[in-house]
Amino acid sequence: MEIRYRRRQFARLLGISDRELAKADDRPELKRLDGGPEEYDPLHLSAYRKALNRRPPRSPMRHQLFLNFKGGTGKTSLSVGYAFHLAELGHRVLLIDLDSQGHATQHLGFKGEEHERTIYDVLIDRVAIDDVLVDTPLTNFDLIPANLGMSTVDLALMPLAGREYRLKKALESVSDRYDFAVMDAPPSFGLLNLNALIATDDLIVPVLPDFLSFHGLKLLFETVGELEEDLDHTLERIVILLNQFNPTTRIAREAKHALETHYSEFLSRTVVRQCTQFAQATSEGLPISVFAPRCRGAHDIRSLVTEIMRAPDGDAKERSA
Ligand SMILES: Nc1ncnc2c1ncn2[C@@H]1O[C@H](COP(=O)(O)OP(=O)(O)OP(=O)(O)O)[C@@H](O)[C@H]1O
Ligand SMILES: [Mg+2]
Repeated sequence: MEIRYRRRQFARLLGISDRELAKADDRPELKRLDGGPEEYDPLHLSAYRKALNRRPPRSPMRHQLFLNFKGGTGKTSLSVGYAFHLAELGHRVLLIDLDSQGHATQHLGFKGEEHERTIYDVLIDRVAIDDVLVDTPLTNFDLIPANLGMSTVDLALMPLAGREYRLKKALESVSDRYDFAVMDAPPSFGLLNLNALIATDDLIVPVLPDFLSFHGLKLLFETVGELEEDLDHTLERIVILLNQFNPTTRIAREAKHALETHYSEFLSRTVVRQCTQFAQATSEGLPISVFAPRCRGAHDIRSLVTEIMRAPDGDAKERSA
């Protein structure tokens, strides 16, 4: 993953003006770094944050799961973009690829097959999370990779004690090291996704603006409701996130309207617009905020981060039931 930031973008990520950045460039401890001041890399980002004391406050680890049983709704594109941007803002983030297809892993430019260990080892053989992590160029962003080797995880979980709670337990061991654990779920319903649902505080459901997706939501809500009852776990927040929105098509406008009518209490204000750069960023193995920081998709991901960060004490969509 080759990441470079231009001056303007770098200053914006740090939340400072161009002039403040120029001043910071002259600090002896920052001058010593390779590169800059025209182009910066992720190491600069951590160093500048530290020097300028612009690190966000540490917070108890928040677990966030991107899930939809329906395939292709944007779980991976959005969870990777979201998690990476949180890290760019200085939060400590753990991204967990729960899909044996390893798409989130590939989105970040890694090859799942080159990494022997996955969440399978953590859940089934109780391998420590530390021994599974993949480092990324951003020091405050770690990945638990996935590959096809974990495709039998549901079967392997079946006979185990506490099989639904294994992920939640495992994550407790790193809860003081991260501000966010972001999970990218596969489009299926099995024990792994059950583990993810039980481990999570927030459920983020990307949906497409069509009526199949709309009807799929009913099933998802029923399943989640039953699960909360049976397993005595309450999600703190459910966010429905409309993805690939193109306002020029009638069907998209109608689907949006239906969501606003029936799911207004869960629907995020952020809508992720259709944006071809998502696919291009994936093929380059780069997060969208790095590949094309000015595109619509990157803009919408930033809005999503802002909205979700603000929600707990603002006009949140906290669940009343
Ligand atoms: N906002 C968007 N605009 C345009 N294309 C998008 C957008 N979001 C996602 N895509 C594209 O849609 C396809 C499916 O996206 P993605 O893989 O993120 O979905 P998914 O829900 O993770 O799929 P799966 O269920 O297979 O895991 C990809 O080709 C991706 O590039
Ligand atoms: Mg996916």
